[in-house]
Amino acid sequence: MVDSTDVLPPSGRASTAVSQGADETAGEAAGGSATRVRTSGDNEVASYLEIAEHREPGHVLTPAPNAPNAVVVLDYGSQFSMLIARRIREANVYSELIPWDAPASALNHLNVRAFVLSGGPASVYAEGAPSLPPYVIKSGLPVLGICYGMQLLTHALGGRVEPASSREFGHAVLTVTEAGNALFRDLPLEMPVWMSHGDRITALPQGFRSVAQSQNAPVAVMADDAGHLGILFHPEVVHTPQGEGVIRNFLFAVAGLTADWTASNFIDESVDQIRRAVGNGQVICALSGGVDSAVAAALVHRAVGDQLTCIFVDNGLLRLGEPERVVRSFREQMAIPLRHVDAVDRFLGELAEVTDPETKRKRIGETFIRIFEHEAKSLGQVDFIAQGTTYPDVIESASTGNSAAAKIKTHHNVGGLPKDMRLTLIEPLRNLFKDEVRRVGKELGLSDEMVYRQPFPGPGLAIRVIGDVTPDKLDILRRADWIVMDEIKNANVYYDLWQSFAVLTDTKTVGVQGDFRTYGYCIALRFVTAQDAMTADWARLPYDLLATISSRIVNEVTEVNRVVYDITSKPPGTIEWE
Ligand code: XMP
Repeated sequence: MVDSTDVLPPSGRASTAVSQGADETAGEAAGGSATRVRTSGDNEVASYLEIAEHREPGHVLTPAPNAPNAVVVLDYGSQFSMLIARRIREANVYSELIPWDAPASALNHLNVRAFVLSGGPASVYAEGAPSLPPYVIKSGLPVLGICYGMQLLTHALGGRVEPASSREFGHAVLTVTEAGNALFRDLPLEMPVWMSHGDRITALPQGFRSVAQSQNAPVAVMADDAGHLGILFHPEVVHTPQGEGVIRNFLFAVAGLTADWTASNFIDESVDQIRRAVGNGQVICALSGGVDSAVAAALVHRAVGDQLTCIFVDNGLLRLGEPERVVRSFREQMAIPLRHVDAVDRFLGELAEVTDPETKRKRIGETFIRIFEHEAKSLGQVDFIAQGTTYPDVIESASTGNSAAAKIKTHHNVGGLPKDMRLTLIEPLRNLFKDEVRRVGKELGLSDEMVYRQPFPGPGLAIRVIGDVTPDKLDILRRADWIVMDEIKNANVYYDLWQSFAVLTDTKTVGVQGDFRTYGYCIALRFVTAQDAMTADWARLPYDLLATISSRIVNEVTEVNRVVYDITSKPPGTIEWE
């Protein structure tokens, strides 16, 4: 049985990951280039610190939600596995993704109320195929098997699965044959679904009956009376328009769960746990200006107040007015103590005459660590360090063993914090998806501007000034970039775009302004739409908007006499130019 992952159209892949706004965490090792850091600014900072600490297991405090209802999604390798957990959480039920072969003890921290078995690329009858852990059926809890998960359930309970003569990938119509089945409560009896199966069920396990069929699958959905269900389609993708209804029915009508996973419950529980764990200790947190570190800091601050000190290192590579905005929003709007370190000269000194993008990244990472270490030491006794790591990063590092930290370690080789600084790590967002981080941020009172901002790379404008970075070039880029932001916001498209920014190319071109010929810089505009930064497309913005931006830039930024629009998708291009 093959999962559908190879047959989804590109738009489908993107739209399955939809959340409001963007998922900042998913920058990647672009096109196999191991040199790109896989995350946005926030996590890059977190990764530098993680390496620098030489952290040992056991020194991690993760306020895991004490969720009364948790649905465990056992991961059999489908690219949609994480999406299933996310959809369940969108229904306000807590869910975690656990590898199918993890020991039963990996579930100990949860009060498991139902299982979902994900899809996956294997065939149940193949040798060494992933199997169903015995604790699933023994638990007596409701189980929803999706695609491979359905076949596994069939196989494990004594039914028969065989290769199908006609495979079904992609769109299909599901016809419900048992109208009263709880899985289809309030849903139409015919509905479009996204199918993916190369195998079929030729004998149902004892106690099961077919409750829905499709053109090529007489058993497209099966059920017994003990809450075990198998479905041959993917309810988690947008190509199954009623998929959300199916998931909700499984959670509420079949499993009888309650919708108690909310931002405010999460905040209450986390605050309680952080407070108890920190006691009278002192906490530090590095801010990047991005949403994850801001939300982590706000949450820890709610728990321990002024025992938290935030450190914001201004590297001189931020956008116009950005350092001031970070300082203002923390000190004034949120009343969180903040140490603002002006390290502009130091960073620019380290970057002088450096043209290679990876050398830029390496120098920035090393310099950040040295400065952070110095600041942290000067605070006296510090016991904890808070970071904004989020759930996709955790899953990514667990599943690939190839975390952002590992990449930075290889390529940046930063040194460690002093051995006598033994800090316990607090990662309060470790269990949250990006859209949940945003909801928590809103609930904590962070501004929309902070919570819904576009991703910004850790190395900042240094990788948007092509070639060597100088204060003059940064100044030109900042002024052009400001116009871009201004017009994009005026046109109300800021939230529709994954990123929108200017790049200062190292090309100068001839122009004519008034009676004079000029020789000025060429600015490139990069506006992309994306769901996760793994793939992206150039945005089809109205010509008039592009015209306004171009004309404002050449008129207001006198060093620039030409503006071009980047019409490259990713792949083959990347989002950033360096
Ligand atoms: P690319 O350019 O690889 O970018 O298509 C994907 C996403 O990652 C961001 N990006 C970075 N973020 N450090 C970061 O923290 C970096 O070195 C870096 N390079 C790219 C980029 O802005 C986009 O969101």
